[in-house]
Amino acid sequence: MSELSVVIIATDSEQRAVLQVLVDGTGVARTVHSCASFPMAGTDPVVRRIHSAGPGVALVDIPSDNPTPALHAIEVLHQDLPQCAVFAIGIMTQPQVIVNAMRAGAREFIERPTTTTDLLEAFVRLSAAQRKVRRDEARGKVFTVVNAKGGSGATTIAVNLALALQSAHSNVGLVDIASLGHAALHLNLKPAFSVADAIRNLHRLDSSLLESFMTRHAGGLQVLAGANTPAALEPSTAEFARLFDMMVSHFRYVVVDASTRLDGATRLVCNLSETVLLVAHTDVASLWSAARVLQYVADTGSRERVRLVLNRFRKIPGFSEADAEAAAGASLLWKIPNQYFAVSAAIDRGIPLMQQNHTDIARSFTGLASALTQNDDDVKRSAWSLFKTV
Ligand SMILES: Nc1ncnc2c1ncn2[C@@H]1O[C@H](COP(=O)(O)OP(=O)(O)OP(=O)(O)O)[C@@H](O)[C@H]1O
Ligand SMILES: [Mg+2]
Repeated sequence: MSELSVVIIATDSEQRAVLQVLVDGTGVARTVHSCASFPMAGTDPVVRRIHSAGPGVALVDIPSDNPTPALHAIEVLHQDLPQCAVFAIGIMTQPQVIVNAMRAGAREFIERPTTTTDLLEAFVRLSAAQRKVRRDEARGKVFTVVNAKGGSGATTIAVNLALALQSAHSNVGLVDIASLGHAALHLNLKPAFSVADAIRNLHRLDSSLLESFMTRHAGGLQVLAGANTPAALEPSTAEFARLFDMMVSHFRYVVVDASTRLDGATRLVCNLSETVLLVAHTDVASLWSAARVLQYVADTGSRERVRLVLNRFRKIPGFSEADAEAAAGASLLWKIPNQYFAVSAAIDRGIPLMQQNHTDIARSFTGLASALTQNDDDVKRSAWSLFKTV
């Protein structure tokens, strides 16, 4: 994500200083100007000064005791600086102010006191939305696989989905962000580098360095391996934002194995994703967990993007798919058959299911890859390739 220029507008000098530290602390944005007064009209010299700073975002701090001038300023900025997104900052206990700020043209309403994570997530959402608009700028799509509960099958699904996408479209990257990464093991790879190396070298990371950190699987899939000791490095969410920005400019599709990692990094990657595959089993505990995980990962983004994948699927009399969707709170994307022997043998031998032709379960992953990419233009043109297996 390229660096965003931010203008801060707050009458309180302490709040101006705090916001500047928070903005600069996101690592993806920089304060280019700050003002102490709210613009009242388009002709106001304040607007000219803001305009000449060329901001991508204007942060407007709404005082809780007198919100009207700030709300008016949002309207002025929204009209006179159409290229600049306005983010309002205020307290959550005044619902009418929130509504008025959004009506005036604010794109986000961020709670005060604000945190770097709040701002970072808002910046990432803005950049993701702008990317969608810029259709010509071909960026890859991210699919993140996250477990409702440990051992639900996230790694099996991420690995085989990545192989299915690679087979159909090529130029696919698999990133393992699980706390202890198993993806390389499933693929029988011996990676020399991992996500931690890419993060450590972010300051000089370009396409060729990124590729040198990745391990190539026989069919062409590139894997950025995960941690081989638990919690070896806890990168900040800003670092993850940078890494994924590089990944999507390099690959057509990026599959992420988050497995059971549930922290700010997973939430950020979910926010950047086209689709989040929430993996659960058809039992009460698993679906209960799915609803909680959904709540967590979609807290700062849209829930529609999180889809339910029922792994080890079996029909249970009296319990329908609609019941599973209602329990998890997410719509069902895919069901993967329960084939314990085939799946375990594939993991133990390091020969993924997608490499073993014509099994039911391999067909299921091919179908999942095709369901996830059915609206992509280039995919429509080469629809036949969807049915080939490795
Ligand atoms: N479709 C399936 N049918 C039968 N068994 C499966 C299926 N998918 C996964 N399994 C079994 O579940 C176990 C866990 O799989 P996997 O390592 O993919 O899970 P995970 O969710 O990534 O685990 P973790 O939480 O440790 O990251 C494996 O031993 C595998 O054999
Ligand atoms: Mg796993």
